[in-house]
Amino acid sequence: PTPSVIVCGSCNMDLISYTPRFPKAGETITGSTFSECFGGKGANQCVAASLLAGVSRQGYTSMVGCVGADNYGRATRSNFEAYGVDITHLGTAPTPVSSGLACIQVDERGENSIVIIPGANYSLLPETAAQLPKPFFAEATHALFQLEIEPGATLKAMEAAKGEGVTTVLNPAPARPLTELPDGFLEFADVLAPNQTELSILTNGLPTSTVEECTAASRELLSAHNITTIIVTMGASGALHVTADKTSHVPSPPLSAPVVDTVGAGDCFLGSLAFFLSAGVPVLRAMEMANKCAGISVTRKGAQTSYPTFDELPREWAAELITPLK
Ligand code: RIB
Ligand code: NA
Repeated sequence: PTPSVIVCGSCNMDLISYTPRFPKAGETITGSTFSECFGGKGANQCVAASLLAGVSRQGYTSMVGCVGADNYGRATRSNFEAYGVDITHLGTAPTPVSSGLACIQVDERGENSIVIIPGANYSLLPETAAQLPKPFFAEATHALFQLEIEPGATLKAMEAAKGEGVTTVLNPAPARPLTELPDGFLEFADVLAPNQTELSILTNGLPTSTVEECTAASRELLSAHNITTIIVTMGASGALHVTADKTSHVPSPPLSAPVVDTVGAGDCFLGSLAFFLSAGVPVLRAMEMANKCAGISVTRKGAQTSYPTFDELPREWAAELITPLK
């Protein structure tokens, strides 16, 4: 079978330093530990969905993107294979373009700061994205996109997916103002899924601290861009589902352990959401389930390494997956 969930986006190697606090400009401090993990918003979302489908279910998800012709790139391919992700459309950038890198610092409170070197992520060309074969989309229900690759490539891939009847979910992260995106970009998103910061930046600085503010900001975007649904991720406060005439707040369940690392928690939410939606779970319930998955991920270190498998979730949930998984 061809994939049920497609992710078109970035792959990074996350170089993570755990440190008591962030250094100030010009300052050198000593951290506690270092780890090298597979990351990138696209890859993380893809792996989150794949883990829930079950890594032995080969090719339930597919990753479209580009890695470097280097050790990180080769390791990234093997990592996807280990998670059962199809990589038929994962390209390799010409040397000397390096694989994408994210230099991450995580402090004692679990907060992070990140510098990204996109490298090979920008080597997926719009022409290549536009040529994804039609049969590739045949069985897909959902396709996920972010802003860590060339926006023109994302645009072409969204257009192709939407044209084949796949529901497109755009996570506009990392945050960028609309002026930096191609014209009509948001129009190809069936669902726009920003966090509060991204929502504020997309609306030229509207406040997004509360459910009411997020609702108002979302409504602005909905009417201006012909989007039918916005899902705002609100961290510990859960997520918000906004359409032209209705808002639903889906709070997060209490965490089962203290927060240690929030890197990639939003990605966990989105990949999980796509998985549950692809399995026919109604959207508000899928958001509740995805909140639970993201809540698990923040209690463990790393991004992908912190995401749950289906076995770690409440047993009864299996009965709620309506569509038989391929
Ligand atoms: O969203 C988290 C991700 O953002 C990290 O894995 C890092 O690679 C950056 O892209
Ligand atoms: Na984590």
